[in-house]
Amino acid sequence: MTILSFFILYYFVTIKMQKTKKGIKMARKIVMTSGKGGVGKTTVCANLGIYLAKLGFRVLLLDVDIGLNNLDVVMGVENQVVFDITDVIMGKCRAKQALVQDKAISSLYILPSSHSYSKAKVQGEHIKNVIDTLDSSFDYILIDCPAGVEAGFHRAVFPANEAIIVVTPHLSAIRDADKVIALLDDYNIEYKGLVINRMRGDLLLNGDLMTVENIVTALNLPLLGVIPEDDAIGSSCSVGARVQSIESARAFTLLSENIHNGSRKIFDCTYKYRGFMGYLKRNIKKHV
Ligand SMILES: Nc1ncnc2c1ncn2[C@@H]1O[C@H](COP(=O)(O)OP(=O)(O)O)[C@@H](O)[C@H]1O
Ligand SMILES: [Mg+2]
Repeated sequence: MTILSFFILYYFVTIKMQKTKKGIKMARKIVMTSGKGGVGKTTVCANLGIYLAKLGFRVLLLDVDIGLNNLDVVMGVENQVVFDITDVIMGKCRAKQALVQDKAISSLYILPSSHSYSKAKVQGEHIKNVIDTLDSSFDYILIDCPAGVEAGFHRAVFPANEAIIVVTPHLSAIRDADKVIALLDDYNIEYKGLVINRMRGDLLLNGDLMTVENIVTALNLPLLGVIPEDDAIGSSCSVGARVQSIESARAFTLLSENIHNGSRKIFDCTYKYRGFMGYLKRNIKKHV
């Protein structure tokens, strides 16, 4: 626990120090990454954006999954897309022209990726150039990393200076995350933190899932947040970032606060499965 506290304190203090460079306010550029696909990078990226923007920050969500754009779909803005990131890179428009403002939160913007441009042509350096032109206009630039560790990974990680590693409480996801954490050493990533997604409190208390402490120990990263498994997220297909239970909304709020000010408050997925009523809920869930 002491080592964990040290990591969190270090993360908080150093982040505060690097937020201004030569007097110009720079955005924190955070990439969401994982080893395994489908663990919730896009979901965490979209929701973190929403909740940081709700805290009053100017947030840009950047989708660099060229060819398989889905951040705009998850955010429900795909019909508003006029230009995308490859149009900016090719000089067809300015970066600001390609931004799509969120319908509900005015300080939240999405820079969509393209589904028609050859992936090979877009380099990490191109994405970084685009980010550089937007840097001073935002407090946070959240980059959604595609699955895998090939060119798409490089494109997403290259412009970032912080990384959030998203895992689910499953061995395969944790093993793959470990490999990605090692790869991040080759980049300009100064801070790494962990988000455990799709945690199930009932299975945790039954001893059927890896515990939060064991995952943190295995990956040796500061824990930024735990997000519960939420049927409302899983079942909503077009606006996944907005249909949520009270529990996951709370978990994302705590995650945003922790990332911003190092509050160290982590959502407890087990709380509603404790006590006699919780025991009944757990058993009902187990047998349906
Ligand atoms: N906490 C959660 N509870 C339930 N379903 C989730 C949760 N997080 C993500 N999902 C679902 O898992 C699937 C994969 O999530 P996604 O964010 O697209 O993963 P990735 O970007 O890592 O490939 C999506 O259908 C999403 O709705
Ligand atoms: Mg994704």
